[in-house]
Amino acid sequence: MMAGHLPPICSKRIRILWQLGLTLLCLIPFVVKDIFADVTTNGGSNRSQILFVENTQGNETMKDTNLYETIFKRKSIRQYDLTPFDEPTLAEVMAHTTALKRLYDDIKIEVKLLSQKDVKGLFLAKAPHYLAVFSEAKDGYLTNAGFMLQQMDLFFSENGIGSCWQGMPKPTKEILKKSKLEFVILLAFGKPKERLHRESISEFKRKPLGEITDIKGADELLEPARLAPSAMNWQQWFFTGDAGTIHAYRAKPSFLTAFMTDKVNKVSVGIAICHVWLAAKHFGKEVEFISDQEAQNNPPSGHEYVITMKIK
Ligand SMILES: Cc1cc2nc3c(=O)[nH]c(=O)nc-3n(C[C@H](O)[C@H](O)[C@H](O)COP(=O)(O)O)c2cc1C
Repeated sequence: MMAGHLPPICSKRIRILWQLGLTLLCLIPFVVKDIFADVTTNGGSNRSQILFVENTQGNETMKDTNLYETIFKRKSIRQYDLTPFDEPTLAEVMAHTTALKRLYDDIKIEVKLLSQKDVKGLFLAKAPHYLAVFSEAKDGYLTNAGFMLQQMDLFFSENGIGSCWQGMPKPTKEILKKSKLEFVILLAFGKPKERLHRESISEFKRKPLGEITDIKGADELLEPARLAPSAMNWQQWFFTGDAGTIHAYRAKPSFLTAFMTDKVNKVSVGIAICHVWLAAKHFGKEVEFISDQEAQNNPPSGHEYVITMKIK
């Protein structure tokens, strides 16, 4: 019997399980290739340092004034110096997590600082530290978590710290028990042992702008979304509307892959929305996040509605 062909006596349930198994088998090489494709080994551990600036009291402090510029050079870091950061640095990181902009103000969020012994799972990037997001499981909470934690990803990169989203690993049971909220995702961080930044846009492996939007005249807001990181680099976002009203959608996962991809894709679209918001702020515009019934009822084929951004 040829692989992929079932005897006719098999029930519908067995047939679905069979197809699911084949899909997973097909995905394994893709998953492994994607995760490790971007690891660069050039650049030693002493090439990058935390870039401190002085605050008004003359103390050294990290900055977040160039998050927009950082969009054009950030990359995932998977090789770390495992020496932990000192307490003041970690305190500053954690203080920053309390000042993040949210997509939805009514969703309770908790960000915990974890170390390597607190996390486990497939394809874990070994780092000295991890941020773990826990959230109330309300409508939009995964996208909200992506939107918020991407501000940390850029903050780290701006300050000479490497970071990498971790879609598969999880905190240990002991850590999970300590929160009443639902665990969403991890962000590994630490001193990078590989080149921290890309040197040009051509180093980003991304879809062309025309594949993620049909809006004309808003490239300055949507090019940053194009460059956003996403799980498996899937980039499953699409933007319609016009330069003043941008509707965000995400590709609907197929029945067979939804259980693996749904969560991380919702997080990923929040990351792209964060980049649009940062770009708008950079160009002196405000963004109002709203839900638009008409946009919700008329998604592009194969997509589902996420949120609308009113650019003012
Ligand atoms: C939600 C999410 C989950 C991710 N999960 C993993 C992961 O488990 N392991 C990993 O090595 N990279 C992970 N990544 C990183 C992506 O593979 C990476 O962002 C993408 O390939 C683009 O590369 P870049 O971040 O260097 O631009 C994840 C990214 C996102 C946004």
